Amino acid sequence: MREAGVNLVSLGIFAWSRLEPEAARYEFDWLDRIMDMLHAGGVRVDLATATASPPPWLSHKHPEMLPVLADGVRLSHGARQHYCPSSPVYRFAAQHLVQQLAKRYAKHPALAMWHVGNEFGCHVPACYCDVSALAFRRWLEQRYGELEDLNRAWGTDFWSQRYSDWDEILPPRRTPTWPNPSQQLDFMRFSSDALLECYELERGILMERSPGVPITTNFMRFFKPLDYWKWAEREDVVSDDVYQDPSDPEAGMRAAMAGDLMRSLGRGRPWILMEQTSNRVNWRDVNVAKAPGQMRLWSYQALARGADGVMFFQWRQSRAGAEKFHSAMVPHGRPEQSPTWHEVVKLGRELGRMDPVCGTRVSADVAILHDWESWWALELPSKPSTRIHHVDQLESYYRHVFEANLVADFARPPDDLSSYSLVLAPSVYLVSDEAAANLVAFVEAGGTLVMSFFSGIVDPFEHIRLGGYPEPFRSLLGLEVVDWFPLSDGEHVKLKFADGAHAEADLWSELIAPSGAEVLAQFSGSTLDGHPAVTSHKFGQGRAIYIATRPEPAAMGRILRAAANQAGVKPVIEAPAGVSAVRRSGPRSSLLFLLNHRDVPVDVPIADPGVNLVDGSEVHRGLIRLGPRGVAVVQEGW
Ligand code: GLA
Repeated sequence: MREAGVNLVSLGIFAWSRLEPEAARYEFDWLDRIMDMLHAGGVRVDLATATASPPPWLSHKHPEMLPVLADGVRLSHGARQHYCPSSPVYRFAAQHLVQQLAKRYAKHPALAMWHVGNEFGCHVPACYCDVSALAFRRWLEQRYGELEDLNRAWGTDFWSQRYSDWDEILPPRRTPTWPNPSQQLDFMRFSSDALLECYELERGILMERSPGVPITTNFMRFFKPLDYWKWAEREDVVSDDVYQDPSDPEAGMRAAMAGDLMRSLGRGRPWILMEQTSNRVNWRDVNVAKAPGQMRLWSYQALARGADGVMFFQWRQSRAGAEKFHSAMVPHGRPEQSPTWHEVVKLGRELGRMDPVCGTRVSADVAILHDWESWWALELPSKPSTRIHHVDQLESYYRHVFEANLVADFARPPDDLSSYSLVLAPSVYLVSDEAAANLVAFVEAGGTLVMSFFSGIVDPFEHIRLGGYPEPFRSLLGLEVVDWFPLSDGEHVKLKFADGAHAEADLWSELIAPSGAEVLAQFSGSTLDGHPAVTSHKFGQGRAIYIATRPEPAAMGRILRAAANQAGVKPVIEAPAGVSAVRRSGPRSSLLFLLNHRDVPVDVPIADPGVNLVDGSEVHRGLIRLGPRGVAVVQEGW
């Protein structure tokens, strides 16, 4: 570990059956020994509460704590995460274990942070058992108070679903056809909250028994089942697990997007890359290896996007179990033979020089709206098209932000947006009144907004907002959407821009009746020939641009470039294609991260001389050369 520069380890994540081999009999000696050893070696510990995988004795004694799927199948122990989040048995046992751990290790000098559970919801995001049904009803009673209000919110007159008693309400179990969409949406909210309660129960114990020790739980990038906005508010440090597929040509962009999300979830606070792999995973059909330098590059990318720490799953490759073919920092074979180990060691050495990075912040002038509730609602079945996916829509915007080296935060639609000049709203299907008013006020006050099709369609109950689509944004956008024309798989339509340029689009099209908006591009040659496809509307002091289809990436880039110009948003630097540039700054330092995502060397212009923290070399005004997948962290002004 010293050789690899390791100074923090996550420990005991799946150790419950070792820590408590039978009910209320605890064995801590082995953990004491490891904690002491790490302390003696100068390594601190992110100590897990070990509650993500209950021991077999617990589910054997209490099979009712096992989770049930929507079709009634009860899952067994033998893997991990086999618990119903609402189960009092599970919660009681988990709390007891955490109390013991907190009592024993609160004052241990190696303890740096608590790691609650692990990847909440990863395998079992929701449980449909009778215990969950009861908890769901309780949650609904709190939300609605009166059964009649629930009936109204769920539109239960449709298909004779009206409830006459709370006890009749079930989770959306397997039904002959689509369950009620409002019920499904509430169940997603409830399921995220049920797991959050588990986290909170543990966190409460830790806060009481070891005050001041930071608490985290590891997120999973854009993980649909959990509303991480709510979760992150309850973490001292946001941490994330990033496992991009090295064979995905856009993996770098996707990992950057996850990093920007983590920074945004923590409202700008530094976060930790809790897990990444040194090389291959074991859980894809084909587990492609990382190319030389890729792990190092993506580690720096996490720093560039606001992380203050880089960790791995896992230290040593295991000999047995379901993850024995997953790579690790220390491989099965002899480390000195392994290029992966050498890259790990090199990274560790370099990260030791990155102290000036810690605590510095990334500042963004672009916000991309991202809301879990809208995501859930957008992807419920029974839509004009089930092909609209929230993350695809985010990516269609983020791709350009990434390539153009603009800096974007993610934000919730009702958030204070006043610090941003440009707000991007990719298909924000569900909006509350508050969120709608917020977006309108943002533009009115001088902001530039770009909004995609199928935004502002429903309210938080999943009821259509009547009065002409998109009802809350018609005057903002200066148009009305008269009808939708979803495109079939593989179907393309043509776009013609006002300057005569042509482009293609797919997925979606719609008939727009402008009422003040000017047309930037129109559909050409399809049913909608000559009708607006992209519009722009001056509203108050600002401008709202609307995109009624999914333009191909180059055309999207063109639209967003124009919007960025309009908003006065500039790239961090003008870098060659394939190079990311992000700046982190603090009271004492300004650090320019330059990352070459390509496998050929590239020269990047430097305006401010400084020192490259990666190797201590001086950086002069002019050009800096980055090798294939090379990086530089230029401390500017030195
Ligand atoms: C997740 C888990 C780890 C491990 C890795 C494998 O991130 O937290 O325990 O299973 O996946 O990639």
